[in-house]
This record gives sequence, structure tokens and C-alpha cells, in this order.
Amino acid sequence: MRFHFPLYSSSSFSLFSDFTFISSLPLIFSSSHFSPFISMAPAFEPLSPPHQEAEPQTATPHHADTVNNFGNDGQVVSKSKVTVVGSGNWGSVAAKLIASNTLKLNSFHDEVRMWVFEETLQTGEKLTDVINKTNENAKYLPGIKLGKNVIADPDLDNAVKDANMLVFVTPHQFMEGICKRLVGKVRGDVEAISLIKGMEVKMEGPCMISNLISEQLGINCSVLMGANIANEIAVEKFSEATVGYRDNREIAEQWVKLFSTPYFMVTPVQDVEGVELCGTLKNVVAIAAGFVDGLEMGNNTKAAIMRIGLREMRAFSKLLFSSVRDSTFFESCGVADVITTCLGGRNRKVAEAFARNGGKRSFDDLEAEMLQGQKLQGVSTAREVYEVLSHRGWLELFPLFATVHEICVGRLPPSAIVEYSEKKPRLSLLEDPACYQ
Ligand SMILES: NC(=O)c1ccc[n+]([C@@H]2O[C@H](COP(=O)([O-])OP(=O)(O)OC[C@H]3O[C@@H](n4cnc5c(N)ncnc54)[C@H](O)[C@@H]3O)[C@@H](O)[C@H]2O)c1
Repeated sequence: MRFHFPLYSSSSFSLFSDFTFISSLPLIFSSSHFSPFISMAPAFEPLSPPHQEAEPQTATPHHADTVNNFGNDGQVVSKSKVTVVGSGNWGSVAAKLIASNTLKLNSFHDEVRMWVFEETLQTGEKLTDVINKTNENAKYLPGIKLGKNVIADPDLDNAVKDANMLVFVTPHQFMEGICKRLVGKVRGDVEAISLIKGMEVKMEGPCMISNLISEQLGINCSVLMGANIANEIAVEKFSEATVGYRDNREIAEQWVKLFSTPYFMVTPVQDVEGVELCGTLKNVVAIAAGFVDGLEMGNNTKAAIMRIGLREMRAFSKLLFSSVRDSTFFESCGVADVITTCLGGRNRKVAEAFARNGGKRSFDDLEAEMLQGQKLQGVSTAREVYEVLSHRGWLELFPLFATVHEICVGRLPPSAIVEYSEKKPRLSLLEDPACYQ
């Protein structure tokens, strides 16, 4: 068998010649790593004007109180109230992380409200009642105490009405409906963050979930992504994450403070689209990695898929948003998330089963059987990415992304993930195409 990706010889991919990977690597373990500001149209009125931004070294645990909580006379006027919109596997872990911090930090109300998409469990009990009685999410995160200050609430309007910090963490396919329900229901001064991996594809082009939230609700939305398999963080194993913010560093610091624990280290970068696209696209790479596992092709092949995938992630992101920074791909949201998802995530696991079954059982079937209500993101993201690629005439620039979708829908067998394509690329990115003929 000959391998499929001649387009990707590292010396031949010439879309972006301005790589600054090494020089722009952030200092590892530096919580004060902030990128120089780049010009980007703000999607909202910043809470504090740029000239009032604090120096990074002032980002002590109490500094960011000033974001929302100081009046003109310098007196504390309010504490931030946090609501988590979503209560799946990651949503529950996010609530646990946040709840441990709101108890410790004066600038937050202790209580963390968590909106629950109500379900009746096999026992006949409502999920919300069980969470509030046992302090555990019996369905999506059994065996883990969330913190007594986490209050489950099945009423979306009620859950968000007092919050001035909203954490969105549901499967991305539900977000459009949730946003529609929330129009006019959230406070004017609310800040949002999205932990959601995925995007919406509309007639006018792809729409990132943070953008959907910003546009529909008229609020600013940051993102948090990273190498974060929820079940590992739930038992407090060390990991890192990346906050992507638009133009207000103090708000980024507020989010960092809300999520950081000794076992969860959060770094802010000023690149919302880059961070969010990393989190979204790596699920497509994970599906490819799962095919490789299902075909028992070994570690070298999987490493090749991960490298090629990361390269397509960067190229796709930069084609969509020229502001996306190369250095973002070296943060936790980038290479680290690709690695963890391709080794251990649910997308990889279900794609492995798909390939072992020779593509004969659908992803829907396998998802229902293997994930007990949890949702796959990679298959729908692959479809969404494919729509963007075909709409823009980029299919042949992204053979890995395109092939993943074609396998998912049964147009190609799983083995196509590493098969050499006899078709000549319509659009060649090669410096020397003759090398690959
Ligand atoms: N689980 C992880 O390890 C992990 C890690 C990082 C990011 N994420 C991302 O977090 C987001 C949420 O994932 P999760 O793991 O918390 O969820 P999940 O897949 O564990 O659970 C699915 C959730 O969707 C809810 N739901 C079902 N039908 C719904 C509907 N019609 N409307 C609204 N909600 C509905 C369920 O109640 C449940 O809370 C996803 O974008 C995912 O990619 C997950």
C-alpha cells in the first residue's frame, strides 16, 4: 500500500511562508504570557478602555475584581455570578472546577448555577433532582462530587437571569436553539465563554460558536479549549487549557482565575478564532486517528495522521481568519489537544469501532451504543468542514479533512484514510509537483 499524502511533504506546502513557530513559542508555565495586541474589530464595547488595561504582573487573584465589581468611587458594588449552560460530561467537570474557585475567591458569588437539559433517568427520577440531592451528575459524571454550591436548574431562563458570567458547554448542535431561547433573557453586562467544540455552517459561511453567541445575544464571548478529556480532569489529574480572548485582557484574566486550579493550568492568548478552530478541527483528526487504530496500522501511521491533521488545522484556520496566529497551535488547544484526542477521546474510540466493522455500522448506531447519551462531535464537524471546503473550492487542498467525511458517509472505505490518490490535485500546493507523480 502506498501512502496517500504526497501533498504534505514539509518542504512542499507553501501556503504560508511566514512560519514563526519557534520564535513565537510562549514560555511554558508562564501565566503572564500575553500576546501583543493585534488589530481586530471588537465585537463589543470593552468593559474597560484599552488605555486602562493592567500590566500582566498586576493579575493577582484580587485584581480582576475591577472588571465588573467596582463602581466609579472605587467601592465594590457586586460579585460576579456564574452560570454554566450545559451539564454533560465536560459541563459537569467545568462546574466542579468553577465551584471550587467561587468558594475561595471573594470576587465571585459562591453559588454556581448549572442549567440541565432535563432527562428522566432509568430510576424514574429527574436528573436535576438527583444532582441536587446527591451532588453528582449520575448520568454524565457518576461518582464525582460537583461541590455543594453547584445548583442544578432545569429552567434555562431562570438559570441565566442573574448571571454576569455565562459558561456555555453543550454539544454544538444545540447551541443555535439555546441562543434563540436566550435572546433578551441575559443581563446587559454579561460576559460569556464557550467551551464548545464545533461550528455552524450557514449559507454565508462558517460561523464559530463563540460568534453565534456574540451575534445572537449581543454579548462578548471568549473561548476555553485544550487537551481536556473531562474524566481525567474530574479526578484532578494535571492538565492545561487555553483561553482565547478578543481584546480585553482583564476579562481573560477573570476567566483564567475562575477556571485555574493546581491541577488545571490555564493560559490566555489573544486569538479567539485560532483557539476555537483548534478545539473544533481536532475532532476531525481524531476520527482519522480512530480509523487508523481500527485498521491496526500502528503508531507511525497515527503520528503521520496527527501531523498532517495539525497542518490542515492550521491551514484551514488561517484561510478562514487571517488573524489566526501560528503560536496558538503550540498551546494546549493545539498540538496537545490533537495528541490527547487521538490517543484517548470518544471520537477516536467510536471511529475505531467504525473501521473495525468495515464501515458497515453507522456512526449514529455506534454513538448510541457506545456513548450512553454523550455526543460525538467529529463526524458532524467533518461534514461542516467538508461543506466549507466544497463551497470554497478547497477540497483538494485538504485531503485528510475531505477523506474523513467521505469515509464517515460511506463514500470511501476506512482504508482510504491512507490510500494514495491517483487523482491529480486540481489545485496544487506543491513547489515541485513532479516529485510526487
Ligand atoms: N467530554 C469531554 O471530554 C470534553 C472535553 C472538552 C470539550 N468538550 C466539549 O464540550 C461540549 C459539551 O460536551 P459534554 O461532554 O459536556 O456533553 P456530553 O456529550 O457528555 O452530553 C450531552 C449533553 O447534551 C445534552 N442534551 C441532549 N439533548 C439536548 C438538547 N436537545 N438540547 C440541549 N442539550 C441537550 C445532554 O443533556 C447532555 O448534557 C462539546 O462541545 C464537547 O466537544 C467535551
